[in-house]
Amino acid sequence: MQENIAATLLEEHQDYEAAEPLVDIEGLSSARVCRFLNDLVRNMAPEEHYLEVGTWKGRTLMSAAIDNPGRTCFACDKFRLVGRFTGLGCLAKQALYRNIERYRDRSARIVFHHTTSSRLFREQRIPAPIGVYFYDGDHSFAGTYHGVVAAEPILAHRAVLLVDDWNDKVIRAATREALRASQLGVLWERELDGDHSEKGWWNGLGVFYVERNAGEQLAAAAAQ
Ligand SMILES: C[S@@+](CC[C@H](N)C(=O)[O-])C[C@H]1O[C@@H](n2cnc3c(N)ncnc32)[C@H](O)[C@@H]1O
Repeated sequence: MQENIAATLLEEHQDYEAAEPLVDIEGLSSARVCRFLNDLVRNMAPEEHYLEVGTWKGRTLMSAAIDNPGRTCFACDKFRLVGRFTGLGCLAKQALYRNIERYRDRSARIVFHHTTSSRLFREQRIPAPIGVYFYDGDHSFAGTYHGVVAAEPILAHRAVLLVDDWNDKVIRAATREALRASQLGVLWERELDGDHSEKGWWNGLGVFYVERNAGEQLAAAAAQ
Protein backbone atom coordinates (compact mmCIF):
# COMPACT_ATOMS: atom_id res chain seq x y z
CA MET A 1 0.00 0.00 0.00
CA GLN A 2 2.08 2.87 -1.24
CA GLU A 3 -0.52 5.36 -0.11
CA ASN A 4 -2.36 5.70 3.16
CA ILE A 5 -5.69 4.40 1.90
CA ALA A 6 -6.91 3.83 5.46
CA ALA A 7 -6.88 7.55 6.24
CA THR A 8 -8.46 8.42 2.89
CA LEU A 9 -11.28 5.89 3.33
CA LEU A 10 -12.11 6.96 6.87
CA GLU A 11 -12.26 10.57 5.75
CA GLU A 12 -14.27 9.87 2.58
CA HIS A 13 -16.82 7.77 4.48
CA GLN A 14 -17.03 9.93 7.64
CA ASP A 15 -15.71 7.01 9.69
CA TYR A 16 -18.30 4.74 8.04
CA GLU A 17 -21.07 6.20 10.18
CA ALA A 18 -23.77 5.05 7.72
CA ALA A 19 -22.33 1.57 7.14
CA GLU A 20 -24.67 -1.37 6.55
CA PRO A 21 -23.64 -5.05 6.85
CA LEU A 22 -22.17 -6.68 3.75
CA VAL A 23 -22.82 -10.34 4.55
CA ASP A 24 -25.42 -12.21 6.52
CA ILE A 25 -23.08 -13.94 8.98
CA GLU A 26 -23.22 -13.94 12.75
CA GLY A 27 -20.11 -12.31 14.18
CA LEU A 28 -18.34 -10.20 16.75
CA SER A 29 -17.79 -7.03 14.77
CA SER A 30 -19.85 -4.18 13.36
CA ALA A 31 -20.87 -3.05 9.89
CA ARG A 32 -18.33 -0.22 10.13
CA VAL A 33 -15.45 -2.66 10.65
CA CYS A 34 -16.72 -4.89 7.83
CA ARG A 35 -17.12 -2.10 5.27
CA PHE A 36 -13.74 -0.65 6.14
CA LEU A 37 -12.04 -4.04 5.62
CA ASN A 38 -13.87 -4.51 2.32
CA ASP A 39 -12.73 -1.13 0.95
CA LEU A 40 -9.16 -1.68 2.16
CA VAL A 41 -8.93 -4.99 0.30
CA ARG A 42 -10.33 -3.38 -2.86
CA ASN A 43 -7.62 -0.71 -2.68
CA MET A 44 -4.62 -2.98 -2.09
CA ALA A 45 -1.85 -3.00 -4.72
CA PRO A 46 -2.43 -5.80 -7.27
CA GLU A 47 0.27 -8.07 -5.83
CA GLU A 48 -0.85 -7.68 -2.20
CA HIS A 49 -3.00 -10.04 -0.12
CA TYR A 50 -5.26 -9.82 2.94
CA LEU A 51 -4.52 -11.77 6.12
CA GLU A 52 -6.92 -12.34 9.03
CA VAL A 53 -6.17 -14.10 12.31
CA GLY A 54 -9.32 -15.16 14.18
CA THR A 55 -12.25 -15.67 11.80
CA TRP A 56 -14.83 -17.43 13.98
CA LYS A 57 -17.80 -17.94 11.56
CA GLY A 58 -16.32 -15.64 8.92
CA ARG A 59 -18.13 -12.36 9.32
CA THR A 60 -15.08 -10.14 8.93
CA LEU A 61 -13.29 -12.52 6.54
CA MET A 62 -16.18 -12.72 4.09
CA SER A 63 -16.85 -8.99 4.41
CA ALA A 64 -13.25 -8.34 3.42
CA ALA A 65 -13.56 -10.77 0.51
CA ILE A 66 -17.00 -10.04 -0.91
CA ASP A 67 -17.10 -8.36 -4.32
CA ASN A 68 -13.30 -8.34 -4.44
CA PRO A 69 -12.61 -10.84 -7.25
CA GLY A 70 -8.99 -11.44 -8.21
CA ARG A 71 -7.78 -10.95 -4.63
CA THR A 72 -6.62 -13.58 -2.17
CA CYS A 73 -7.66 -13.50 1.48
CA PHE A 74 -5.65 -15.75 3.81
CA ALA A 75 -6.98 -16.57 7.27
CA CYS A 76 -6.61 -18.85 10.26
CA ASP A 77 -8.51 -19.85 13.37
CA LYS A 78 -7.64 -22.48 15.94
CA PHE A 79 -11.31 -23.14 16.89
CA ARG A 80 -10.89 -23.93 20.58
CA LEU A 81 -13.14 -26.63 22.02
CA VAL A 82 -15.45 -24.10 23.63
CA GLY A 83 -15.12 -20.34 24.07
CA ARG A 84 -16.93 -18.05 26.54
CA PHE A 85 -18.31 -15.78 23.81
CA THR A 86 -17.81 -18.02 20.81
CA GLY A 87 -19.38 -21.34 21.89
CA LEU A 88 -18.39 -24.70 20.44
CA GLY A 89 -15.41 -24.48 18.09
CA CYS A 90 -16.59 -27.38 15.92
CA LEU A 91 -19.89 -25.61 15.18
CA ALA A 92 -18.11 -22.35 14.36
CA LYS A 93 -15.80 -24.19 11.97
CA GLN A 94 -18.75 -25.82 10.17
CA ALA A 95 -20.44 -22.42 9.90
CA LEU A 96 -17.25 -20.85 8.52
CA TYR A 97 -16.91 -23.50 5.79
CA ARG A 98 -20.59 -23.11 4.87
CA ASN A 99 -20.22 -19.34 4.68
CA ILE A 100 -17.12 -19.54 2.48
CA GLU A 101 -19.11 -21.80 0.13
CA ARG A 102 -22.22 -19.60 0.29
CA TYR A 103 -20.38 -16.50 -0.93
CA ARG A 104 -17.80 -18.24 -3.16
CA ASP A 105 -19.19 -16.90 -6.46
CA ARG A 106 -19.00 -13.30 -5.29
CA SER A 107 -15.83 -13.31 -3.27
CA ALA A 108 -12.06 -13.15 -3.41
CA ARG A 109 -10.18 -16.46 -3.24
CA ILE A 110 -10.17 -17.68 0.38
CA VAL A 111 -7.26 -19.71 1.73
CA PHE A 112 -8.16 -20.84 5.24
CA HIS A 113 -5.85 -22.64 7.68
CA HIS A 114 -7.34 -24.41 10.69
CA THR A 115 -4.46 -23.74 13.05
CA THR A 116 -3.10 -21.35 15.65
CA SER A 117 -1.52 -18.11 14.52
CA SER A 118 1.80 -19.11 16.08
CA ARG A 119 1.92 -22.27 13.95
CA LEU A 120 0.76 -20.37 10.87
CA PHE A 121 3.70 -17.97 11.15
CA ARG A 122 6.24 -20.57 12.33
CA GLU A 123 5.53 -22.76 9.30
CA GLN A 124 5.61 -19.73 6.99
CA ARG A 125 2.31 -20.67 5.40
CA ILE A 126 1.42 -17.18 4.23
CA PRO A 127 3.17 -15.57 1.27
CA ALA A 128 4.25 -11.93 1.24
CA PRO A 129 3.26 -9.23 0.63
CA ILE A 130 0.33 -8.67 2.97
CA GLY A 131 -1.20 -5.26 2.30
CA VAL A 132 -3.96 -5.48 4.92
CA TYR A 133 -3.58 -7.48 8.14
CA PHE A 134 -6.52 -7.84 10.56
CA TYR A 135 -5.66 -9.37 13.94
CA ASP A 136 -8.64 -10.70 15.96
CA GLY A 137 -7.20 -13.91 17.45
CA ASP A 138 -5.75 -14.71 20.88
CA HIS A 139 -6.52 -11.61 22.94
CA SER A 140 -3.89 -12.15 25.65
CA PHE A 141 -0.88 -9.84 25.88
CA ALA A 142 1.47 -12.56 24.64
CA GLY A 143 -0.88 -13.65 21.85
CA THR A 144 -1.41 -10.13 20.54
CA TYR A 145 2.27 -9.24 20.82
CA HIS A 146 3.21 -12.35 18.86
CA GLY A 147 0.48 -11.72 16.28
CA VAL A 148 2.06 -8.39 15.38
CA VAL A 149 5.76 -9.27 15.66
CA ALA A 150 5.47 -12.54 13.74
CA ALA A 151 3.62 -10.92 10.85
CA GLU A 152 6.22 -8.21 10.25
CA PRO A 153 8.37 -10.20 7.76
CA ILE A 154 5.45 -10.82 5.40
CA LEU A 155 3.93 -7.36 5.45
CA ALA A 156 4.22 -5.21 2.35
CA HIS A 157 6.80 -2.42 2.59
CA ARG A 158 3.89 -0.21 3.63
CA ALA A 159 0.81 -1.95 4.99
CA VAL A 160 -2.35 -1.40 7.03
CA LEU A 161 -2.45 -3.22 10.36
CA LEU A 162 -5.80 -3.44 12.16
CA VAL A 163 -6.08 -4.75 15.70
CA ASP A 164 -9.54 -5.58 17.01
CA ASP A 165 -10.79 -5.11 20.59
CA TRP A 166 -8.85 -1.87 20.90
CA ASN A 167 -10.98 -0.85 23.91
CA ASP A 168 -8.96 -3.41 25.89
CA LYS A 169 -5.89 -1.94 27.62
CA VAL A 170 -4.02 -5.23 27.30
CA ILE A 171 -4.48 -5.25 23.52
CA ARG A 172 -3.27 -1.67 23.25
CA ALA A 173 -0.20 -2.25 25.38
CA ALA A 174 0.73 -5.48 23.59
CA THR A 175 0.33 -3.89 20.16
CA ARG A 176 2.43 -0.86 21.03
CA GLU A 177 5.19 -2.98 22.50
CA ALA A 178 5.13 -5.25 19.46
CA LEU A 179 5.33 -2.27 17.10
CA ARG A 180 8.42 -1.06 18.95
CA ALA A 181 10.03 -4.52 19.06
CA SER A 182 9.42 -5.26 15.40
CA GLN A 183 10.75 -1.87 14.34
CA LEU A 184 7.66 -1.21 12.29
CA GLY A 185 7.48 2.51 11.73
CA VAL A 186 4.03 3.92 12.39
CA LEU A 187 3.41 6.49 9.67
CA TRP A 188 -0.18 7.20 10.77
CA GLU A 189 -2.69 5.75 13.24
CA ARG A 190 -6.26 6.03 14.49
CA GLU A 191 -7.79 4.66 17.69
CA LEU A 192 -11.46 3.97 16.96
CA ASP A 193 -13.34 3.41 20.20
CA GLY A 194 -16.23 0.97 20.18
CA ASP A 195 -19.49 0.73 22.13
CA HIS A 196 -20.35 -2.90 21.28
CA SER A 197 -23.09 -1.77 18.94
CA GLU A 198 -23.68 -2.27 15.23
CA LYS A 199 -23.58 1.51 14.89
CA GLY A 200 -20.09 1.88 16.30
CA TRP A 201 -16.72 0.13 16.08
CA TRP A 202 -17.82 -2.81 18.27
CA ASN A 203 -15.07 -3.28 20.88
CA GLY A 204 -12.80 -0.74 19.21
CA LEU A 205 -10.29 -0.93 16.40
CA GLY A 206 -6.65 0.18 16.29
CA VAL A 207 -5.59 1.14 12.78
CA PHE A 208 -1.96 1.63 11.81
CA TYR A 209 -0.31 2.52 8.53
CA VAL A 210 3.11 0.98 9.02
CA GLU A 211 6.41 0.80 7.21
CA ARG A 212 8.80 -2.12 7.45
CA ASN A 213 12.49 -1.68 8.20
CA ALA A 214 11.87 1.80 9.52
CA GLY A 215 14.37 1.20 12.34
CA GLU A 216 17.10 0.15 9.92
CA GLN A 217 16.47 3.16 7.73
CA LEU A 218 16.67 5.54 10.69
CA ALA A 219 19.90 3.88 11.88
CA ALA A 220 21.42 4.13 8.39
CA ALA A 221 20.44 7.79 8.14
CA ALA A 222 21.92 8.49 11.59
CA ALA A 223 25.18 6.75 10.63
CA GLN A 224 25.68 8.93 7.53
C1 LIG B 1 -13.54 -12.66 18.46
S1 LIG B 1 -13.44 -14.14 17.56
C2 LIG B 1 -13.26 -13.57 15.91
C3 LIG B 1 -14.45 -12.87 15.37
C4 LIG B 1 -14.48 -12.69 13.88
N1 LIG B 1 -13.35 -11.93 13.39
C5 LIG B 1 -15.79 -12.13 13.37
O1 LIG B 1 -15.84 -11.66 12.27
O2 LIG B 1 -16.82 -12.24 14.00
C6 LIG B 1 -11.81 -14.69 17.95
C7 LIG B 1 -11.41 -15.96 17.25
O3 LIG B 1 -10.01 -16.13 17.44
C8 LIG B 1 -9.74 -17.50 17.53
N2 LIG B 1 -8.44 -17.69 18.19
C9 LIG B 1 -8.13 -17.56 19.51
N3 LIG B 1 -6.83 -17.81 19.71
C10 LIG B 1 -6.29 -18.11 18.51
C11 LIG B 1 -4.98 -18.45 18.05
N4 LIG B 1 -3.95 -18.54 18.91
N5 LIG B 1 -4.78 -18.69 16.74
C12 LIG B 1 -5.82 -18.58 15.87
N6 LIG B 1 -7.08 -18.26 16.23
C13 LIG B 1 -7.32 -18.02 17.53
C14 LIG B 1 -10.91 -18.08 18.32
O4 LIG B 1 -11.06 -19.46 18.06
C15 LIG B 1 -12.08 -17.22 17.80
O5 LIG B 1 -12.80 -17.89 16.79
